[in-house]
Amino acid sequence: MCGIVGYIGSNRAYDILIQGLKRLEYRGYDSAGVALVDCDGKLKIHKSQGKVSNLESIASGANVEGHLGIAHTRWATHGEPNDINAHPHMSQSGMIALVHNGTIENYAVLKKVLMEHGYEFKSETDTEVLVQLIEYIKLTSSCTLLEAVREALLQVDGAYAIAVVEQNEPDTLIVARKSSPLVIGVGEDETFIASDATPIVGYTDQVIYLKDNEIGVIRRGEPVQVLSLFNNEPSTINIQKLKLSLAQLEKGGYDTFMLKEIFEQPSTLRDCLRGRIVDNCRRVTLSGVDLNQERFKSAERITLVACGTSWHAALIGKRLIQDFCKMPVEVEYASEFRYGNPVLNEKDIVISISQSGETADTLAAIELAKAKGAFVYGICNVVGASIPRTTDSGTYIHVGPEIGVASTKAFTGQVTVLTLLALSVGHLRGAIDDATLHEVLSALDKIPETIEEALKVDTEVKKLSRIFSYAHNFLYLGRGYNYPTALEGALKLKEISYIHAEGYPAAEMKHGPIALIDHDMPSVIIAPSDSLYDKIISNVQQVKSRGGAVVAIVSKGNKAMNDIADFCIEIPEVPECLTPLVASIPLQLLAYYIAVNKGKDVDQPRNLAKSVTVE
Ligand code: F6R
Repeated sequence: MCGIVGYIGSNRAYDILIQGLKRLEYRGYDSAGVALVDCDGKLKIHKSQGKVSNLESIASGANVEGHLGIAHTRWATHGEPNDINAHPHMSQSGMIALVHNGTIENYAVLKKVLMEHGYEFKSETDTEVLVQLIEYIKLTSSCTLLEAVREALLQVDGAYAIAVVEQNEPDTLIVARKSSPLVIGVGEDETFIASDATPIVGYTDQVIYLKDNEIGVIRRGEPVQVLSLFNNEPSTINIQKLKLSLAQLEKGGYDTFMLKEIFEQPSTLRDCLRGRIVDNCRRVTLSGVDLNQERFKSAERITLVACGTSWHAALIGKRLIQDFCKMPVEVEYASEFRYGNPVLNEKDIVISISQSGETADTLAAIELAKAKGAFVYGICNVVGASIPRTTDSGTYIHVGPEIGVASTKAFTGQVTVLTLLALSVGHLRGAIDDATLHEVLSALDKIPETIEEALKVDTEVKKLSRIFSYAHNFLYLGRGYNYPTALEGALKLKEISYIHAEGYPAAEMKHGPIALIDHDMPSVIIAPSDSLYDKIISNVQQVKSRGGAVVAIVSKGNKAMNDIADFCIEIPEVPECLTPLVASIPLQLLAYYIAVNKGKDVDQPRNLAKSVTVE
């Protein structure tokens, strides 16, 4: 989704801003722009629809000198993606420029008032309203930029992270946030700002995460100041050490981030598990659970809330918690939960799952659950993101930055943490016997090596992807633990190849989707040797007898399926509850290679954003 970067210091701002925008490309965007106070003290804006490289072409030959600037990648919400709607937006006088992530909900009312005062608008964006409002306040009250920004924000409803510069204040950069992240990087005589830490990596490892309703005032040569939006009082500044490295943000020899992230799953899961399986695979230690034992013991119900791929992980989490904790579990899309008037009390635990930790719907679901007295536990990847700072407790999945828009290693990290959590809580509640705990933990402990083994199907899946390049529709079927795996396989395919794919519980197929099956509609069926294997065999036969091609994902050594399915991909055998982790590997690869065969941009698929910070 939209990205912000800004710089004030003694280096050439333009270079730092462009590099920052490129690092933010992974979030998904459709236009980009920069505003600079150039060496002649003039405020200049360059912006363009499309990639950052388009912006560079447009700016080539222009005066892009200067040591203060802000820049933006826009993912369209209000107004189509074009040059005019791209950020930064300038005030009517051309003196103030602003970039904004989020949405201004009362923009229409504010716009009407400003138009009555003679303001004209060039774009269709809500953002332009904010910059005009700041200018209007500044001119009518003869105040400083800081005062005008503060006054304007007090009139605004909605979510925002903003950065503002003014031609007449070439030594000042103002930032603010509410429900949309903003990080300040504190360097030697220079300061960076960004919507996430990626543009700052390599310049400084000292960062301040702005909190909601705070304004950051960055003046050249002065320490950063943070003020409360409401009372204008200085807030306590907590400078933290950034743990991201440049190497983590690079492709490491792979063609794409997505392929790198698929192949690094053995090591990311090693990081995810590190120190959490103890006593010779007889106990789990998760500090979030260990420190809140009473809450987990007395809980009467767990509700998992998430969006997209994280929601698929939640569905697997439901099975795990039911099986190992023997307690009621529900799974909700965060976007439905937040408006669904859920009945919750202090005996409820709500577990929110999010890679980015910034998903607007998930954040709203958390706020609601907290307000209703539930204990909220977060499972997140991005350290220091809004969700881990809002929840009562939680666990990081520690799989490192996920740059490819399609989630791969975060999904397996989430499922791994959910497995640990279910085992830990089940043990705490006396719901799981020692032998089962030991058996599952021993297999989970080896999962990095097992995934390494599973990745050996790479060449075979690549070949298969060519065979299926004809298909415009796919069905993904699975049962039990692997019904969510089927949903996730279908989502991976559709989001990066733009092929229609549907995930279904295999037995539900006969209640409708079976009508779709013919020679042109292949099915991918996840059929490991588990408790539902015999049942799924008959589902495979139902597809075959209607002329549909079947790719079956089976456990190693299962030769029986060769007689029924058209193609079999073997995965290592693991306990049933761990099969989604292993079965998702060939599905990730299949989606990846089909998309590559079709010449798609797998890392930045059209219309998608990595962190969805709007409703
Ligand atoms: C799909 C994908 C999305 C995200 C969803 C939630 O590959 O990545 O469906 O899972 O937007 O994002 P997070 O997990 O950041 O809350």
